Amino acid sequence: MTESTTIRWEQDETGIVTLVLDDPNQSANTMNQAFKDSIAAIAERAEAEKDSIRGIIYTSAKKTFFAGGDLKDMIQAGPENAQQAFDTGTAIKSSLRRIETLGKPVVAAINGAALGGGYEIALASHHRVALDAPGSKIGLPEVTLGLLPAGGGVTRTVRLMGIADALLKVLLQGTQYSPQRALENGLVHEVAATPEELLAKARAFIDANPESQQPWDKPGYKIPGGTPSNPKFAANLPAFPANLKKQLNGAPYPAPRNILAAAVEGSQVDFETALIIEARYFTELVTGQTAKNMIQAFFFDLQAVNSGANRPQGIEPRQVRKVAVLGAGMMGAGIAYSCARAGIDVVLKDVSAEAAAKGKAYSEKLCAKAVSRRRTAQEKADELLARITPTADPKDLAGCDAVIEAVFEDTALKHKVFQEIQNIVEPDALLCSNTSTLPITVLAEGVERQNDFIGLHFFSPVDKMPLVEIIKGEQTGDEALARAFDLVRQIKKTPIVVNDSRGFFTSRVIGHFINEGVAMVGEGIEPASVEQAAAQAGYPAKVLSLMDELTLTLPRKIRKESKQAVEEAGGTWQTHPAEAVIDRMVDEFGRTGRSGGAGFYEYGEDGKRGRLWPGLREHFTKPGYEIPFKDMQERMLFAEALDTVRLLEEGVLTSVADANIGSIFGIGFPGWTGGVLQYINGYDGGAGAGTGTGLPGFVARARELAERYGERFTPPALLVEKAEKGEKFADTK
Ligand code: NAI
Repeated sequence: MTESTTIRWEQDETGIVTLVLDDPNQSANTMNQAFKDSIAAIAERAEAEKDSIRGIIYTSAKKTFFAGGDLKDMIQAGPENAQQAFDTGTAIKSSLRRIETLGKPVVAAINGAALGGGYEIALASHHRVALDAPGSKIGLPEVTLGLLPAGGGVTRTVRLMGIADALLKVLLQGTQYSPQRALENGLVHEVAATPEELLAKARAFIDANPESQQPWDKPGYKIPGGTPSNPKFAANLPAFPANLKKQLNGAPYPAPRNILAAAVEGSQVDFETALIIEARYFTELVTGQTAKNMIQAFFFDLQAVNSGANRPQGIEPRQVRKVAVLGAGMMGAGIAYSCARAGIDVVLKDVSAEAAAKGKAYSEKLCAKAVSRRRTAQEKADELLARITPTADPKDLAGCDAVIEAVFEDTALKHKVFQEIQNIVEPDALLCSNTSTLPITVLAEGVERQNDFIGLHFFSPVDKMPLVEIIKGEQTGDEALARAFDLVRQIKKTPIVVNDSRGFFTSRVIGHFINEGVAMVGEGIEPASVEQAAAQAGYPAKVLSLMDELTLTLPRKIRKESKQAVEEAGGTWQTHPAEAVIDRMVDEFGRTGRSGGAGFYEYGEDGKRGRLWPGLREHFTKPGYEIPFKDMQERMLFAEALDTVRLLEEGVLTSVADANIGSIFGIGFPGWTGGVLQYINGYDGGAGAGTGTGLPGFVARARELAERYGERFTPPALLVEKAEKGEKFADTK
């Protein structure tokens, strides 16, 4: 018999066996080889000693209950490992199934987070009790990594709650529930307040249900809500893939499709066959490129970025107590809310008391909404609001240990507001600007302590957008960088770090996406096709609508300043074909974007976006002119990816993980790619399909695009060199 090394068998005198999940070699339990052997040994022992067992409780000795599959293994899995991936999954499932059908009550005492594989162990139990531990999460988030839950997760949720609820509540969004919300949504049966109560409830279930069985193992069981073999259900079935397609907007995410297929097909067959169907669909995903991209970004890169791989070492972490937010407009109001939500006192300053109060009103609105949706208690909302003091008086900024400036985008004004307050705030206060385009080094010239000055670039809407781009100016000290990093983490956002340059990383790269979309309109391509290409490439915002949001005057202003800077440095400005289109839109047609009431789209009185402006077809579209749809998508994706490589060459970006995370979370680079540099690593010759051809394939394709559409697609030297050496973009730290 194999030995159990990661699960301890603890049997009490009453015959209750507690299976303590406790991998001695890892901080969290995962479905690795040792677990596979252990659970097999446990199943064998349980069967052998069945007569002495009264019931079984799964619990864990770790802070989390169980972490799920081993992602380090999964990211390696190529087509050649397909059979092995399939077999490992099957082996674990069959052991869990043997325990589930032993004829004894099985309870999951979920003492911490149970995501993915952790919740699947719980699903293989007859009763689920969750400890209401702070921050504890329950659910099947596999879809967010491009996978599906193949430890019985699809098969059992479908049988537990019916196809529709399983898909909508658990599988397709990968929602992570707090224990309380898991209870409300039927993922667990009970919640316990303390670890003692958790085990007491588990034992009570065993005492009360000596003959317990899973609902689906009882005679006469039917899947709740029906299955496709029921004519009423079958009539609704075609709506599922159609809705899914609509939701994905045609973007190439294979996991939701496979989840849907596994759920529907699995519902029509017996339990054991359903498990096999689920495993087949999983194997297809785990050996493909998209899951690798998504695991790289949403797990490894995110962990690297948040854990401070880019924070200077050896500097004591510091927490901000009281922050001054200068400017209570759209961004200042959002920044004030995010800081107050994290427990920081905020002094929100604008030119008048009314303007400052209006900024605070934004937090009032968000709080009222959160209370009405029961996402927060009234008491907590009141506490949050009490932390925000609106003012027009600089003296109220006394005692602030950090400043975040968000006044109009104007260097002289920004200099002025810092001068006004720099001797009122704490003498070592961290000085941050939320500029989206102005060089930090130039802004720093307006303050006495330039080494404490840094860029903190938030994204709109601040309360929803998880990213903050930290920009190091030439004079910025390591201490300021570490403190800025700590502040971003304190308000629970994700910090990426870049060096100063015009437009930094995010604003500069998103500009290439927009320029490419606009240029295609100028070439004569149907504007509706351009929008469709962006959506189907997986961009969350269509390119022309995004241009309208940002306003067409913005790229003109940036162009003017950048051109001047290039020429002052003795260089020649490279004209982009988008420029002529934007100039005509503004100068000839007076269309400046959404805020001006007219742009690439038409807008109603209420500012609501209507149809694409018919004048675009009249003035720009060449009837019958088309380029391959793939070229349209890749022109946008490549324009962003190529400039990101240039930013690495220039030393503006210093970390691959920061580039990947910043591109997805800051500027909407499609998530299926794993981020802008992982897109190059995993380039597969098309949007989503097949397996990687990597850097050489990307370089060849960039050259092809350069030949067809312009020199801007010429691959930079760094990329060519890496491709020739057979390297990939990877962090070495
Ligand atoms: P906004 O126009 O909504 O707000 C600016 C606020 O600054 C106004 O309330 C104004 O009264 C106030 N202000 C002007 N002079 C002031 C002074 N002397 N003292 C105190 N307050 C003063 O502008 P928004 O959109 O909030 O942008 C602010 C900054 O954030 C700009 O630098 C912008 O480039 C940057 N940013 C904007 C983003 C966006 O999506 N709008 C994204 C990231 C950064």
